[in-house]
Order: sequence, then structure tokens, then C-alpha cells
Amino acid sequence: MNFSTSLTLALSTTAIFLFSGCNEGAPVDTPTSTETDLATLGEALFFDTNLSEPTGQSCASCHTAASGFADPDSNFSTSEGVVAGQFGTRNTPTAAYAAFVPAFAYDVVEGLYTGGQFLDGRASLLEDQAKGPPLNPVEMHNPNKASYVAKVAAASYAPLVKKIFGLNVFEDPEAGYEKIARAIAVYERTKVFSPFSSKFDLYIKGKVTLSPQEMEGLTLFEGKAQCVACHPTRPTEDGTPGLFTDFTYDNLGVPKNRAIPAYAKDENFIDIGLAGNPKVIADGRVTENRGKFKVSTLRNIALTGPYMHNGIFKTLKEVVSFYNTRDTNQSRWGVAEIPETVNHTELGNLGLSDKEEDAIVAFLQTLTDGYGAK
Ligand code: HEC
Ligand code: HEC
Repeated sequence: MNFSTSLTLALSTTAIFLFSGCNEGAPVDTPTSTETDLATLGEALFFDTNLSEPTGQSCASCHTAASGFADPDSNFSTSEGVVAGQFGTRNTPTAAYAAFVPAFAYDVVEGLYTGGQFLDGRASLLEDQAKGPPLNPVEMHNPNKASYVAKVAAASYAPLVKKIFGLNVFEDPEAGYEKIARAIAVYERTKVFSPFSSKFDLYIKGKVTLSPQEMEGLTLFEGKAQCVACHPTRPTEDGTPGLFTDFTYDNLGVPKNRAIPAYAKDENFIDIGLAGNPKVIADGRVTENRGKFKVSTLRNIALTGPYMHNGIFKTLKEVVSFYNTRDTNQSRWGVAEIPETVNHTELGNLGLSDKEEDAIVAFLQTLTDGYGAK
């Protein structure tokens, strides 16, 4: 199969990528000036540490490019908010490639939920997601929309906000808040977040070869280890390169991580994942979705540790060993946080040798963007 053809197609049709950043040289539609302005504004907002209360934390504090757009501080399983000692209950996922996640929806044919932002899909699109962190008490901690909008009004780039959204944008905090979120979403859809520049991408295009060990890992990933069942590797029909997630939700049987601060407050703390999504509650589908989390993209996975929604695993080797021996070495892994909905068909007893586990880890390390750059 020739994957390079479909990949080129993907890049040339992906008009949402405003920056040709990396190396592709593929034709990109000329964006309207407003879209470019929106992305420029989104970038300024994403990095602005003056937008928290107190100042000091931006989106980029927890989603840093050098850490695969996840939290650079891997000492903690979950991230610390701007207020010292305040931690969220979930491990920060990457914000890269999030632009490709479809809106949250229920697939009637398959009988399952797909898409959405956050590990439980509770924000449907990036625009909705960007409205969360500024007001989240364990993140940027603003008391209300008005205080956040006022900070934007005082920023050096406030004239750009007025240019894009009109002179009276700061007068209505409710509307202003929506608009600011939109600019962040536009920035997150630029190629900065989705460069597709890993060694694996170059391999798919026929530009580099994988080492024998990486190749073995890929073969196992797509075969014996069944990873591909949830983390698809190959370009989709429309030519989008493999995103390493099928956007569905699953309970892997991950045990509790008692190191996360939520347990200090309440030792019975349980993260019910998808079952806590207000849409799922309204649909009356709570029981079967307890403990399910969105399938993570594995792009840049070597940079984004710790792993899983509660950050329980420190290394990729541990993750792969868990998939391999969850059901055969229970004394090592402990019981699942929510046993009732655990997937026992595609993981838990894969029969991989230690060498095969290492090969999968080697393959996962080919998914880091910026291969050969520098
Ligand atoms: C204190 C750290 C922190 C800050 C600051 C922060 N985030 Fe996040 N981000 C997280 C965590 C934790 C999650 C997962 C939360 C959940 O699933 O409930 C997340 C989830 C996301 C997601 C969804 C990814 C996915 O796979 O579903 C995106 C996109 C994102 N953040 C963008 C942003 C933007 C934009 C900002 C600034 C407006 C921001 N984040 C600020 C920690 C942070
Ligand atoms: C049945 C679906 C399914 C299969 C099969 C599967 N995964 Fe996953 N994977 C998930 C889900 C769901 C998550 C997120 C779980 C969570 O956060 O609790 C995940 C998370 C991960 C993570 C951590 C991501 C992060 O950012 O924390 C890694 C690494 C990973 N998978 C690798 C693999 C490998 C390697 C295989 C094959 C051995 C595999 N997966 C097989 C569904 C699956």
C-alpha cells in the first residue's frame, strides 16, 4: 500500500492549518486575515501567565510544547494549579492533535460514545474546552468571567482583541469570554499542535526506515498486542495520518493511584470518568460507562508521562507490561478502580515476551514530533 499519496492529500486539504511550520511545503489555502488574527491572538492568550488569579499560570504552563503539549512537571501524577498545593484529579493529557477529536456524540449503531474534549468528553469542541481552565479553581482560578475578561482587556494585545471582535468586546464579559475561547481554539487548530513530523510519519512517507526493533514493535502493535484496535496507526479514508486514537471510551482496569492528592481529602475517591459527563447522565447511560476514559492519542507519548488518567504509570515499559500481564500478574497491578466495566477481551493477557514489550516501547518512541529537526 502506498501511504505517502494519501498523506500528501491530507496535508493539502487541511486548510485549518494556518502555519506551514515544519517542512511539508504542501499547498495550504490562504486563510482569511481574521483567521490569522484569531490564531495570533489565540497564541498570545495561550501563553499569557497574567490571565490567572494570582498571576503565574497559562495554558502553556500545563501544556508545554517541549513536553508534547502536556505538563512538564512529571513529579506529580496530576497538575498543580496556580494556587500552590491545589491539584486536579486527572493527569494532564496532551493538547496536541486535540483539533482532530470530533464533537462528543453517541454512535447509535455501535452503541457507544465517541469524541469530545477532556478525558470524559464533557466539552464537545475546543471552543467549549477553552472555557474551562480560566475558571477552574485548581487551574487558573479566576473567580468569574468578568475578572478573566478584564485581565485580557489590560493585556498588551487588547487592541488585537478589539480589532477582531469589535470595540465594545470588553463591555459584555459573557460574550467576551466566548470570543476569547474561540481564538484559543483557532490557535489549537494550527499546525503548531499537529505537525505530523515524527519518525513514524517519515517512515509512512517512505523517507526513513525503522530499526529492526522499532519495526518489530510496529508489527506487534498492529498484530499480537492488539493496540491498533483502539489506537489506529494508519491514515484514514480522507487521508488524515493515523491519530493513534479511535476517539472511543474504555475502562482498562487501571488501579487507583493513591498518590494523587484527591485521596488525601477523601480516601474513597473514585474517578467515574465518562459516567460523570452531564450528557451521559442525561441520556441515562451511567452504569455501563463508569470508569471509562477517552482513548488517548499516542503521538508524542514518550514526552507526556506519567500515563493514564490518574498518572499511575511512570514509564512506557510499565504501561506495556500492564496491558500484557494485567490478568496474569494481579499481585503486581492490584485491583481495578472500577471492576464492573473493565475490558477483558482486548487486553490483560497478551502473551508478550519481555523482549516484545521492549520492542513496542521502542516503536512508541518513534511517535515524537520534530524527528531530525535541530
Ligand atoms: C493546571 C494545569 C492546566 C492548565 C493551566 C490548563 N490545562 Fe488543559 N488540561 C489539564 C487537565 C488536567 C486536563 C484533563 C482534565 C479532564 O479530563 O477532566 C486538560 C485537558 C485539556 C484539553 C483536552 C485534551 C483531551 O485529550 O481531551 C485541552 C485541549 C486543553 N486542556 C487545553 C487547555 C487550554 C486551552 C488551557 C488554557 C485556557 C488549558 N488547557 C489550561 C490541565 C491544565
Ligand atoms: C480497548 C482499547 C485499547 C487497547 C486495545 C489499547 N489501549 Fe491504550 N489506551 C486506551 C484508553 C481508553 C486509554 C486511556 C485510559 C485511561 O486514561 O485510563 C489508553 C491509554 C494508553 C496510554 C497512556 C496515554 C496517556 O497519555 O496517558 C498508552 C501509552 C497506551 N494506551 C498504549 C497502548 C498500547 C501500547 C497498547 C497495546 C499493547 C494499547 N494501548 C492498547 C485504550 C486502549
